[in-house]
Amino acid sequence: MKYLLLSFSTLFLMACSISVSEKRAEIDDEPHRPIYHFTPEKGWMNDPNGMVFYQGEYHLFYQYYPYATVWGPMHWGHAVSEDLVKWEHLPVALYPEANGMIFSGSAVIDWNNTTGFGSEERPPMVAIFTFHNMVREKTSQSDYQSQGIAYSLDKGRTWKMYEGNPVLPNQGIRDFRDPKVIWHKEGKRWVMVLAAKDRIQIFTSPNLIDWEFASEFGVGSDPGLGVWECPDLFPLKVHGTNEEKWVLIISHGVKEVSPNGGSCTRYYIGDFDGAEFKTEDPLEKYNWIDFGKDNYAGVTWSDIPSDDGRRIFLGWMSNWQYAKIVPTKTYRSAMTIPRELSIKDTDEGLRLFSNPVKELESLRNNETTLTPGEIEEYLLVESQSPDQSALELEFELSSASSRAFGIQLSNNLGEYVRISYDKQSSMLVVDRSNSGKTNFTDDFKDLQYIPITYRRDKMKWSVFFDKSSVELFVDGGRVSVTDTFFPNEDFDELSLFSFDGKVRLISGKVYDLTNSL
Ligand code: FRU
Repeated sequence: MKYLLLSFSTLFLMACSISVSEKRAEIDDEPHRPIYHFTPEKGWMNDPNGMVFYQGEYHLFYQYYPYATVWGPMHWGHAVSEDLVKWEHLPVALYPEANGMIFSGSAVIDWNNTTGFGSEERPPMVAIFTFHNMVREKTSQSDYQSQGIAYSLDKGRTWKMYEGNPVLPNQGIRDFRDPKVIWHKEGKRWVMVLAAKDRIQIFTSPNLIDWEFASEFGVGSDPGLGVWECPDLFPLKVHGTNEEKWVLIISHGVKEVSPNGGSCTRYYIGDFDGAEFKTEDPLEKYNWIDFGKDNYAGVTWSDIPSDDGRRIFLGWMSNWQYAKIVPTKTYRSAMTIPRELSIKDTDEGLRLFSNPVKELESLRNNETTLTPGEIEEYLLVESQSPDQSALELEFELSSASSRAFGIQLSNNLGEYVRISYDKQSSMLVVDRSNSGKTNFTDDFKDLQYIPITYRRDKMKWSVFFDKSSVELFVDGGRVSVTDTFFPNEDFDELSLFSFDGKVRLISGKVYDLTNSL
């Protein structure tokens, strides 16, 4: 094995690694807790909810059970951030009540005070969510999910339940949940997309209170997709043009058809006339938002000002196959990093690209430039980060003669996470089979395969590691892969590698991302 050291500052690393671990120990004794990803202070978290921007704050609500690290009666946890990077934890926003627990949903600013809950000077923040009624579920009734609303007049700090709840009662469908609401400018009314078992239903409303059925999408889809969850619908301009398309996102708790098993999220690109979503593609022609195993139930922020204009997505970094048994102690699950979505016209048609939001650059510290050249076997990347498992790595490679190339994060115990690109099969392969604690489930160790279906001579990777997760964005976000792992000791060695031949490193940079501590 040949090592090529790129840059090294032993004293600096030693000094900083002490302070990083000391700082971490002050937070809690939780070796897998990420440094710059959002996690709940304690307890259980799943889906992101109610993501809305208002008066300089990004709100992140989330499915939350504060009293244990497993799923329980759902609350909405709450945090705010001015920059999508540093989050402030706030008290629980919504509690289970007589109508049921508070399942997933969205939030909007009711600028025109259509609800009458506030005034135009003081527009209400309105949360629209699913009540899940356990009593009715236990007595085998199928109408236990309905939609309710609550509002806040103080920037999401305190909430009042609407007295007329539920605003959209159940219509005999067991799985009837996760409303995502948008204001449809042209139609001057609210539009709700709702997951209704094996399809999406669309409802409209003048005031968020009275809802009328408009249409449904997906009737006759592959039954292997299982129960549909957490939809989102939004417009986006095709990059570099003035053409507007609509994106429909749908999450699925599936086994058979997901790219690598379990929970996954797909999307369609089409058109929406204010009542009906249509796509020219047949129903079975959809694409995945992410090909890894740990990006689920993601949706986008509402009310981002038009002079910003971005569509920002965040997912839950776990998978229902094992979310409740992952080996963390005080909390369970993190969110993905926030990602900016864009539509690009590619040689395969319109595709949704995801890229880390630019605000994450504020975390960059101690930049190391990799020396271009050929890599044969292993190239040890010695970044200046005091923590080799919390950094950002970006590079461009051309594959030259190698059979496979990629990156590896490893530790002294022989544990590693490896992502490689296999030239012959044109597949990315994620290997976390020997990444430390893997035996808590049978669904964790399998190799993950991700087809790269488009032509390329070079490949660009942008990779974010954060203690127990990796997020890879390939070729400007055309493919993204998110995975978690739980090493018995922090990974402290990062390498680029090439098997059976050489690759050419065209350029590369590493940034320390431990700054947020
Ligand atoms: C998705 C989901 C949603 C539901 C919530 C319950 O992960 O199953 O459909 O509202 O979680 O916590």
